[in-house]
Amino acid sequence: MTQPRITVLATGGTIAGKAGSATRHDYRPGQIGIDELLGQVSALGIDSQFRGQQIANIGSEDIGEQIWAQLHRAALAAINDPACNGVIITHGTDTVEETAFLFDQTLPADKPVVMVGAMRPADAVGSDGLRNFANAVQVVSDGDAAGRGVLVVMGDKVFAARDIRKARTASADAFAGYPRDEIGLVRPSKLEWFGAPWRSGEEARFAYPDPWPEVALIYIYAGITADVAARQITGKTRAVIVAGVGEGNMPEAVRDYLAGLAKAGMIVVRASRVEEALVDRAPSDDELGFIAVRALRPAKARILVQLMLASGKADRVAIQAEFDRR
Ligand code: SIN
Repeated sequence: MTQPRITVLATGGTIAGKAGSATRHDYRPGQIGIDELLGQVSALGIDSQFRGQQIANIGSEDIGEQIWAQLHRAALAAINDPACNGVIITHGTDTVEETAFLFDQTLPADKPVVMVGAMRPADAVGSDGLRNFANAVQVVSDGDAAGRGVLVVMGDKVFAARDIRKARTASADAFAGYPRDEIGLVRPSKLEWFGAPWRSGEEARFAYPDPWPEVALIYIYAGITADVAARQITGKTRAVIVAGVGEGNMPEAVRDYLAGLAKAGMIVVRASRVEEALVDRAPSDDELGFIAVRALRPAKARILVQLMLASGKADRVAIQAEFDRR
């Protein structure tokens, strides 16, 4: 078989981070450029051709609309390039689930796009970056990787973009999935899928948004008042995602305030701050004009509603149907 030709788009994060010391906690993400990273990879003897492109070199807490737009353009160009077999995106782990979900919805599914990061900087004892990268190469080169949407490879596991979340901050096994956990297990020498591709040949589900509609995210806690919730809504806000307690619950005063907004035409989505939550429609959602998120995490729900609003799909029935199919 000919060598896979892989485009690597680098954005920074811990996989490009340095601690300055193998044992001191003095670490900065985004210190190693793509050429240096690919130089380290070449010592692993991987039988692939890499084409690196530095999009940014930052901690992923600073990723947002501007870098997403550049990264999306570069990923799309690579997908459309007949000489490219697949795309790897290196990314900080803090927001990788959001970038993965956004790209999952806005890129075609016919070429593999694999995101990868690390929990330990490149110069730390037991650094996981090169192993995760070698695993990502194993996944992106596999004939069965396309047709699964954007994938994230971390800690010897493969996750789908819809399911993945960062579940731990201090372990190389930092990620978990819901409602599906990992969809494959990977090592630098072996890959095992737990099912067949489900999106083969699928086009991008949504156009890339331009401009991004303003959507608020309100985190519910014991004691939150309607006034505090109201401070997060501006004249430009078109929708609100509520990271409720339990199954998407919120204090009565906040619920009444949001029901008033819904009555005036605002999209209001009940999600949950619980890590593994299924928020189904309740009879009261019909009365209050709310939408139920089902299994999507609040930050991903926010992106999905932004994509829908930007595509002109602003009605409640269509948005509920979109959450129901996820
Ligand atoms: C980041 O998300 O950029 C920092 C943390 C990490 O990559 O693990």
